[in-house]
Amino acid sequence: MPTTKIFVTRIIHKDALDLLQREAKQHSWEIKVWPHSLPPSPLELRREAQGHQALLTMITDRIDQDLLDRLPELKVIANHAVGVDNIDLKAADKRGIAVGNTPDVLTAATAELGLLLTMALLRNLPAAISKAKTNQWGAWGPLLDLTVQLGGMEPADNPPLFGIYGMGRIGQSLARMLALGLQANVAYTNTHGPLNNLNFPATWLASEELLAKSDVLIVTIPSNPNTKGLFNQDTLKKLKVGAYFVNLARGDLHDEDALYRLLEAEHLAGVALDVTNPEPATLGRNPILSHPRAIITPHIGSATTNARRHMGLLSAQNIINYLKSKQMPHQVKIAL
Ligand code: GLV
Repeated sequence: MPTTKIFVTRIIHKDALDLLQREAKQHSWEIKVWPHSLPPSPLELRREAQGHQALLTMITDRIDQDLLDRLPELKVIANHAVGVDNIDLKAADKRGIAVGNTPDVLTAATAELGLLLTMALLRNLPAAISKAKTNQWGAWGPLLDLTVQLGGMEPADNPPLFGIYGMGRIGQSLARMLALGLQANVAYTNTHGPLNNLNFPATWLASEELLAKSDVLIVTIPSNPNTKGLFNQDTLKKLKVGAYFVNLARGDLHDEDALYRLLEAEHLAGVALDVTNPEPATLGRNPILSHPRAIITPHIGSATTNARRHMGLLSAQNIINYLKSKQMPHQVKIAL
């Protein structure tokens, strides 16, 4: 029987690589790890993945039909991410290739970043830091630097409504932080309708109503053929004048030029993006980077040591279990 070969497309957490190496030794599998700090180009990926049965991939690897056609030996792909939009799932399914992902180990990290971005946006943190650091502090004043309070138990004039667009794991975790941690007003929308097992206050609204009523819209849906481009100019214009927009999920869900135009027109008060369209963001391709009312971070939702270690371990385990028993701890269900 030919040796089973595994290709890992980036250097992942040491504990995850050790786990793979240990199992590989026992079963005489071969492991190859892409050693560079930048991801392989599509051509390099195609060349390096040749003849492999298993791939441990990143969101930066495009696994499309054309690539899969060139990898007839491939049996399993373990994506080191919860999102799997970098993989053509239908094409994988057609070829009988199993796809795994890493939910339940990055929920807290990503929701925490969502809270951080939302708070930084509403309290205008970048401007406050810059004011202090550039010697612009001047005299303190009772009507200076005023921003938006998120929640609290004290008397509140017009407290904002946070609209969570997509109440999956990350959406729920962030909604819980807002509702219980900050006593903020939370509403959400979900394709499956109201959830009856939430242990915190949050009101379900149909998507159109959520867009119309939210003061802060926070996007936490996956990108797939049904959701790509959902937040285009028409959708974004349904937001209130003075609303804030936060995207924690995928950049291709939003039209970034439309966001920029709506910021310029003061229709949107602020935008926070951990994901951009395209990525990586550069000043030339993503003008929103330089907008004073936009906070942009470089896709760091899951970037804690803890989450990345567990993502590494889970993606390694997905490959190991599949190769041993065709069962993965987290196999993506492909809805055709
Ligand atoms: C990150 O974006 C992920 O999907 O895990």
